[in-house]
Amino acid sequence: MGTFLDSIPLSGIVRIRDMMYTVANPFRLDQGDISFDAPDTVKQAMIRAVEENRTHYLPTTGVPRLRQLAAEKLRVRNGIPVESDDEILITNGGTHGVYAACQALLEPGDEVIVPDPEWPPTMAMIRAAHGEPVAVPLHESDGWRWNLDELERALTPKTKAIYINSPNNPTGGLLTRSDLERIAAMARERSLWVFSDEAYEDIVFDGHHMSIASLPGMYERTIPVYTMSKTYAVTGVRVGYLAIKDPTVRARAIKVVLYTTSNVSSIAQYGAIGALEGSQDAVVKFRDELRARRDLFYEGLPEASGGIFSGAPPAAAFYAFVRIDPAWRPDSADQPSQSWGMAEHLIAQGRIGCVPGADFGPSGEGHMRFCFGRERAELSGALESMRSVLAPHHVRAR
Ligand SMILES: Cc1ncc(COP(=O)(O)O)c(C=O)c1O
Repeated sequence: MGTFLDSIPLSGIVRIRDMMYTVANPFRLDQGDISFDAPDTVKQAMIRAVEENRTHYLPTTGVPRLRQLAAEKLRVRNGIPVESDDEILITNGGTHGVYAACQALLEPGDEVIVPDPEWPPTMAMIRAAHGEPVAVPLHESDGWRWNLDELERALTPKTKAIYINSPNNPTGGLLTRSDLERIAAMARERSLWVFSDEAYEDIVFDGHHMSIASLPGMYERTIPVYTMSKTYAVTGVRVGYLAIKDPTVRARAIKVVLYTTSNVSSIAQYGAIGALEGSQDAVVKFRDELRARRDLFYEGLPEASGGIFSGAPPAAAFYAFVRIDPAWRPDSADQPSQSWGMAEHLIAQGRIGCVPGADFGPSGEGHMRFCFGRERAELSGALESMRSVLAPHHVRAR
């Protein structure tokens, strides 16, 4: 396993983060971290937990009250027929949830259909479980959804699972009910599993989020994964959860959580209890503000980039995943990737954090990802900087 891990790449986001450290006063549009303070419901619950000395070992599966709240939320909000709190497992954020799910389910050589583009850790965690990610393109012209005929053609006798990430990072694309129904039919017919990463379920501007696990007969073959990180702007607190109906697979996932954490931080879990028990007003406020930031960024982008960036605003999540004018060329002729060249240019010349589309898979090349979940002033500053480093450059290039 030691040397095997050498074959799994670190995400390009790490390379970008290192590049950002070399820049003074950067605009941090690279990370998927929204700028809001945590809601008081979370903060007060964590403070109370400290004062009440809730600082000891916990059951590996999580604080019973949190499992109960998560089970209730999955039943009521997501329509997933969770029967018992025992089906819930608390994890160290969604990342750990995906990791545990992959380790619990995959055998060496199992193929997993993944969206392309997709959040890079997905592919890495499938590989870490000795699985094989099989990229199936999302189509920009269809709101960054799969062509399901194409997906069906990618299924082989080795396919073990389909990995859904809707809303998707980086594109903000959302699968429709009929997409999910067709995927569910394929999964039932061919006895496939489904991983469903629903990290951005609460950040939807147009359309509706739906969990495939709520469709008839799907929960027993789906592992839905959730996180508090994005909904409540608490990326550093580290709490997520997943639900697994199958007792054998669940027992394996519990072992992964046991041997990687013993239990998720007690204070963090009490914070999550506060989030789920308390008012959800902050979630609505965050979403409304994110919509305003999305609109601000997209309104300024065509002019600030001198027409180099284009694309429709996303239906969900908080990323602008925009097309780069194919005529634009990296500063260095030695840089074969247009999007990496753009990232180098924007970071070094404009102090603008961003992630190259190529990092998310082959279909991401020719695109850039900017996180618009930052303060309005930071977004305006990034646009202003872009105006000075991109628009004139483009005029010269033409
Ligand atoms: C698609 C997706 N899933 C899961 C996560 C995991 O987030 P966390 O580990 O903070 O819960 C992220 C974070 O960026 C994400 O983009």
